[in-house]
Amino acid sequence: MGIQSSYDLVVDVKKPGAEIQPTMYGLFFEDINFGADGGLYAELVKNRSFEFPQSLMGWKTFGQVEVRTDGAPFERNPHYVRLDNAGHGHKHTGLENEGFRGIGVKKEATYRFSVWARSGNATAQKIRIELIDGDNNPFERKELTIGSGEWKKYEVILTSSKEEAKASLRIFLISGGPVDMEHISLFPTDTWKGRENGLRRDLVEALNELNPGLFRFPGGCIVEGTDLETRYNWKNSVGPVENRPLNENRWHYTFAHRFFPDYFQTYGMGFYELFLLSEDMGAEPLPVVNVGLSCQYQNEGEHCHVPVGELQDYIRDALDLIEFANGAISTTWGKVRAEMGHPEPFNLKFIGIGNEQWGAEYPARLEKFIEAIRAQYPEIKIIGSSGPQAEGKDFDYLWPEMKRLKVDLVDEHYYRSPEWFLNQAARYDSYDRKGPKVFAGEYACHPQSRENNFESALCESAFMTGLERNADIVHMATYAPLLAHVDAWQWRPDLIWFDNLRCVRTPNYYVQKLYAHYRGTNVLPFTLNKKPLTGQEGLYASAVIDTDKQEIIIKLSNVSNEDKDIRINIEGLQRKMKIGSEAQVVLLKGEVDRENRLDNPDVAVPVKSVVRMNGTVLEATAESQSFNVYVISY
Ligand code: AHR
Repeated sequence: MGIQSSYDLVVDVKKPGAEIQPTMYGLFFEDINFGADGGLYAELVKNRSFEFPQSLMGWKTFGQVEVRTDGAPFERNPHYVRLDNAGHGHKHTGLENEGFRGIGVKKEATYRFSVWARSGNATAQKIRIELIDGDNNPFERKELTIGSGEWKKYEVILTSSKEEAKASLRIFLISGGPVDMEHISLFPTDTWKGRENGLRRDLVEALNELNPGLFRFPGGCIVEGTDLETRYNWKNSVGPVENRPLNENRWHYTFAHRFFPDYFQTYGMGFYELFLLSEDMGAEPLPVVNVGLSCQYQNEGEHCHVPVGELQDYIRDALDLIEFANGAISTTWGKVRAEMGHPEPFNLKFIGIGNEQWGAEYPARLEKFIEAIRAQYPEIKIIGSSGPQAEGKDFDYLWPEMKRLKVDLVDEHYYRSPEWFLNQAARYDSYDRKGPKVFAGEYACHPQSRENNFESALCESAFMTGLERNADIVHMATYAPLLAHVDAWQWRPDLIWFDNLRCVRTPNYYVQKLYAHYRGTNVLPFTLNKKPLTGQEGLYASAVIDTDKQEIIIKLSNVSNEDKDIRINIEGLQRKMKIGSEAQVVLLKGEVDRENRLDNPDVAVPVKSVVRMNGTVLEATAESQSFNVYVISY
């Protein structure tokens, strides 16, 4: 503990200021770091349809196994396997899947194995399905009879007798053969909301707990693709899951030092599932579509992109997406949504056109999208990009362009140092109030270690006081990236880390959670010596009122090495606003260079306590290196 100093702060509740948008604190999801396949999407079998370029990647085979394409049941996923007689009573035919860095199963939990199969001749065939532990011991075993020569779906429930983080799935042919198999799948039955083709429950619970007001998807760079053929194609991500074609995942090779040759997108968790997830969490969906540009980091020159005059299909994709989300069930895409189980519209209000684009090639294309969307869906709010940097040439060019094109919000991205985050706490205080609103669409504090240490979370908490204070212009903010598998990540820091069985909430997660839970309804002026707290004496702060819950909420980060005695004076109280004798404090504090880990998840977690009110003055000590939320009920 260092020297103590005392500060008189004033919160003025007389005139609640700008409304804080319900979309203010949200989530940005991209399939990076095994975030979808191998992560949020609960499928446990990798390369279930044998569509990876190496058809048997993720599988070991034994005996007579052949990859075939003749007479396949799903035309967009044409490969399947034939298992045939091993030729001797003591030999075996079968295959084994390694999962995504193993298959995680829990003790006494149940798993739905399913397969599309047919007997290769007129007789019924039998297969045996086993779960195998890391020492090669089977610990669950079930049989299935494939009774038809026509393709059919077969299912059996496996119950795991033990917990195993890195199990594998083994399938034996136990009759004379042949038998054909396609779309071999294994899901926990205990998915989020118990849905088949569902999502990992623990991960969705962690997301849901953040109380997000916005859900941006599916990227990020995967929207653009390394080339246009491999851009995220939302139309391929809807309809029957067995027939959604595989797509490359650019994060498989984007960083040579983090190379993941087995990283692909099955689209098993596609746009329907992502809209549904937004709805479940009560978050506004914000899909982003390709603007006719392939990733500009990886492609230079107009020839890599769609010519401005030939954007019709891309613009059609954007319009059809709005129809998919909101259209009546009599429309082409509204019907697809209804057939998937959601006749009611998803009530889409926002769309992002392009991800992280720059240069004159972007506005030239964006303009065409805007014309078409405004003409058909004037109520939809359009989000444009300000490029990959938070300042500089591209940024300075794009903001005026976004104003000229009258986009509703401009997406800003910043992955920067702790110092940058602290220096930028007043960033939005001087922004032009007349133009588009701001969406801080991707941001994260990157300390030198690139870990999710407490220092990074503390700097984000300090910076976010500036988002909150400027809620009249900042309408949305989403940390990035969201999820990372500890054995298969490409990018860090990330908000939530997981392995095959567990997940851990980072200190950065708790900062997001505290902002979202104590969002408030309106901004209040909060000052030291009549000036907002934007770093004086290491203090950063903002205040809001929640007129529904009748709370005055102060967020204060002390990034200095000294404890600070503070007095928060509440001014402008109306007679009917009665302050109690106590206020609540939520404290987030940790050691700056430590992070929460799977085996030690509680290094920095919020702790609640109470502090006595001295009339209309809250007196407290803001500890050094801490983030504090003070909640005063009235
Ligand atoms: O969040 C990781 C990447 O950062 C996103 O895909 C991209 O938009 C940005 O460059």
